[in-house]
Amino acid sequence: MSGNRTFTMIKPDAVRNGHIGAILAKMNEAGFRIVAMKYTKLSAEKAGEFYAVHKERPFYGELVEFMSSGPIVAAILEKENAVADFRTLIGATNPAEAAPGTIRALYATSIGENAVHGADSDENALIEGNFHFAGTEMF
Ligand code: RTP
Ligand code: MG
Repeated sequence: MSGNRTFTMIKPDAVRNGHIGAILAKMNEAGFRIVAMKYTKLSAEKAGEFYAVHKERPFYGELVEFMSSGPIVAAILEKENAVADFRTLIGATNPAEAAPGTIRALYATSIGENAVHGADSDENALIEGNFHFAGTEMF
């Protein structure tokens, strides 16, 4: 059974480029409801922990440096079939391959600096949501 919540971050590139409002609008227009949200910044240590699954990948160092390079928006979103529908909304990891109209097609600059994160499973959505929002009130 698929769950109804996912976890997202608007990454430092999109924040720097002034796309927070436009990206949140896309999420709302696609039917996602905000359950929890914060404007925050990851330390290199926290970014490394968050993306620990990619530790052995060649881009890990770059990814950690990028994700801790500036503020982000972290959020838990709710919608039926949230994880899969949100991955469709954001598009492929590489913006050059992202479908037209997707958030990454519109706002990502490269495969590394790709504007948004979307959890890839219900299990990870829960883990990642807790990473940022454990103990926080949700609505
Ligand atoms: P995300 O986890 O951020 O939603 O992205 P994703 O599932 O589409 O892609 P994933 O394979 O999980 O990779 C995580 C993030 O690592 C950076 N990356 N850089 N330089 C590269 O070849 C490369 N490949 C991946 C991206 O920021 C990617 O979103
Ligand atoms: Mg991923």
